Amino acid sequence: MTVRHFLRDDDLTPAEQLQVLELAAAMKADRNGVKPLAGKAVAVIFEKPSLRTRVSFEVGIAQLGAAPIIIDASKTHFGRGETIGDAAKVLSRYVDAIVIRSNSDARLAELAAGATVPVVNALTDGFHPCQLLADLQTVRERLGGTQGRIMTYLGDTANNMGHSYALAGTTAGMRVRLSGPPGFEPDPEILAAARQRGVVEVVDDPAEAAKDADVLVTDTWTSMGQEGDGLDRRTPFLPYQINGSLLVSAKPGAIVLHCLPAHRGDEITDEVMDGPQSAIWDEAENRLHAQKALLAFLLERR
Ligand code: CP
Ligand code: NVA
Repeated sequence: MTVRHFLRDDDLTPAEQLQVLELAAAMKADRNGVKPLAGKAVAVIFEKPSLRTRVSFEVGIAQLGAAPIIIDASKTHFGRGETIGDAAKVLSRYVDAIVIRSNSDARLAELAAGATVPVVNALTDGFHPCQLLADLQTVRERLGGTQGRIMTYLGDTANNMGHSYALAGTTAGMRVRLSGPPGFEPDPEILAAARQRGVVEVVDDPAEAAKDADVLVTDTWTSMGQEGDGLDRRTPFLPYQINGSLLVSAKPGAIVLHCLPAHRGDEITDEVMDGPQSAIWDEAENRLHAQKALLAFLLERR
């Protein structure tokens, strides 16, 4: 059987995404009951910082019965010349899957090309597809389903989360709205790919974008690696902040998501993050369940 990778959200068909989300719900209900990966090992490589991704993969892999091998890339030979393609060939002889957080999607593709085991994107500059599985699991729990629901992402629509909301949201049958300031637009190729799956609207005005939304979501205005670029982000992004007055534009009972880490007072206020419509902590928990389901899906097919 060919090796299946999960490099971007639309690597899963709508039916496969639903299968993973249903498995994630079952695994959440029976957290320690299933050990489908007993005797296997999964490498998880970090070329960028992480809290949630690192811990949720390490715990989840162990709960599946497999050995998690967590690798800090700065302690490997990557920085002194070993190619990621060569590393993929070697790791494939030891482990049953490779999860990686990296900067570039080209680097991720090079890893996947060299690997003979499934490769999972744990965040690149282009996408954060594991996060989206957790987000969709949360939407299903809170709203009873995803089909036809309006999901509005406010802020940096050019970043990995903007791209993943477009691709994964449409795959789940949601109507996706992206709203951010000029100069931070989504990649046109990714937008076109998402529109092959469903409806994505780019709406300049944040209040209009939030109107009647079932889900409001945001992310940091400064993604990892952009800290030193000298751009003033606060001025253009502030109108896209999720705060109490924007939230009233959404549907009553709308939920608010944020992948975390949050910059309270920038992209989201305390009152919203800690308020009754926040589903952010469930969303963070669901990283664990959704990733377990994804690994079981990818590895049980082999
Ligand atoms: N949401 C997320 O990926 O968090 P970490 O960067 O802490 O892993
Ligand atoms: N867009 C953010 C997501 C963090 C989980 C970043 O890339 O830093």
